[in-house]
Order: sequence, then C-alpha cells, then structure tokens
Amino acid sequence: MTNNATYHREHFFVQEELDLIKKSVLENIESSQSKNMIELKNIDPIYEKLQLFFKEELGKEVEFLNSFIFFASSTTMDSRMKSSNMGWHTDGTCSLVDGDCYNVWIPIYNDSESTGLEIVSEGKNPELYTQFGDPTEIPVIYSRENSKEIYHFFGNSIPEDTDLIIVKVASGLVLPLAKKNLSIDKYENPTPGDIVIFKQSELHRGFHDGGIRIQLSLKFRLKNAEINQKSTNQFYKLFETVTFGEKSFNDYQRFLEFIHPKEKLSKHGSLENEAITSLLSISM
Ligand SMILES: [Fe+2]
Repeated sequence: MTNNATYHREHFFVQEELDLIKKSVLENIESSQSKNMIELKNIDPIYEKLQLFFKEELGKEVEFLNSFIFFASSTTMDSRMKSSNMGWHTDGTCSLVDGDCYNVWIPIYNDSESTGLEIVSEGKNPELYTQFGDPTEIPVIYSRENSKEIYHFFGNSIPEDTDLIIVKVASGLVLPLAKKNLSIDKYENPTPGDIVIFKQSELHRGFHDGGIRIQLSLKFRLKNAEINQKSTNQFYKLFETVTFGEKSFNDYQRFLEFIHPKEKLSKHGSLENEAITSLLSISM
C-alpha cells in the first residue's frame, strides 16, 4: 500500500481475536449512553496488533483516539441514503486532530445480502484532494438526486455532469464532482474480522441491502499529531480559555465529554443495542 491508498485485508483478526472484540462489546455496550460511541475495555491485544500493522505496513506510528459501533439495517441505513448527501461524508473526528487520523473499519457480524463501504481514496484521486481544502473542515455534501433545490441554486456555476457538490462554509469552497471522474474503492460483503483502513478525511459512505451488519470503527491519530487549534475545531478556544498548563489530547477528550453531556439513548438506540447484544451473543 502506498501511504495514501485505502488498505484492505481479509481475515485480519482470527476467531479468538474476533471473540475478544465481541466479548468486549457485550460487556461495554450497556454503559455506552451516547448513540454509536462505545468504550471497549480489555482489548489491548487488538489495539497492539493494529498499531504494529500501522507501523510495519504503513510506516505510521499511531495512537488510539476513540471508537464507535454501527448497526446497519434497512431501517438505519434508509434514512442515510435518503439524506441530502446520500451517506457521503468525512468523519467529524478529523477536526480534532492537526494531522492525519485514520479509521479502522471492522465488521463483527454480517448476514446481509449486500453491505459494505465505498471510499474515494487520496491515493487514487490525487487531483480531487489537491482541491479539497483544509481536511479538518467538515464539508457539507449535496447529491444531485436528493438536493434538487441546491443544484438549482448553484445553477450555471457548476458543470452539468455534477453528481456531488462539496461545500466548505468557513473557507467558501464549492467543489463540484462528477462520479465518472472518481475512482471509488468498494468493499462488499465483508467477513467478520476483515478490516479496511482509510483516512477519516477521505470521502466515504456505507451501503446496505437486506439483513444486518454490525461494525466497529476504531479511530487512530498519528502519534505526533497535536490538537487542532483552528476554528474548525469548534470547542478548542473555549478549552484553551478554561484550562491551565499543559493541554493534552486526553484532557481535551474529557473536556468534550463534559461540554457534551451524554444524552439518554432514544427508543431506537436502545433497540439497536438490544439487537447488537442478541446477535453477537448467538454468534459466539
Ligand atoms: Fe465515517
């Protein structure tokens, strides 16, 4: 893999490791009160294996940042596909880090007809990313199919074959994209324990049809990356004002948890957690 391409490896985690991950999900999902976020305890060998892989295969020293769990079903994915961006996004965690941050995508359960991940990688789309602007600024993305009024608004200022419009509000960037000019990596029907690694600032989306996919996203940052001090990291200035002395990543994460008190799970979120618990239990 070159430094910028998407990395994919089938059966990266063996059965024992997969069981360790699933056990940790089962033990910790109840205590994760905010939707999708999960603190996985007692999976140090998993982090170590990934860190070693980053070092040996990608030449990157990374540190763990945080982790999320997703329950992909027709109900949860339908709303994403019908939204104005049709699921295309970059990850919000990018704005915390002044430097590269990575997403390790790990399906841990899959009985779907068709499910997976699409990525517009830097490695295969270098021209796009030279125009993409500040990677820490989260773009608003409009798809032709679901944002008719926006397309009408931009009218003649964008080419006719535009499929997606990338907008970065703070920097005033408007970037029209045609899918035919993009090289999109598609990872379909993964086996639990496979991994895909990509930069969180690379455009990506999940897709899904039938059945259930349960998947973790483990986020890593470069070891020498600093906290992003630009205004794209919207709570940093406040953090700077109210804290004294050394400002570490961990302090900032704790501050964010304090600023964003965990919300009670909605009925929908509780139902997802119950379904995750049931499916993982019977699959072990
Ligand atoms: Fe994402």
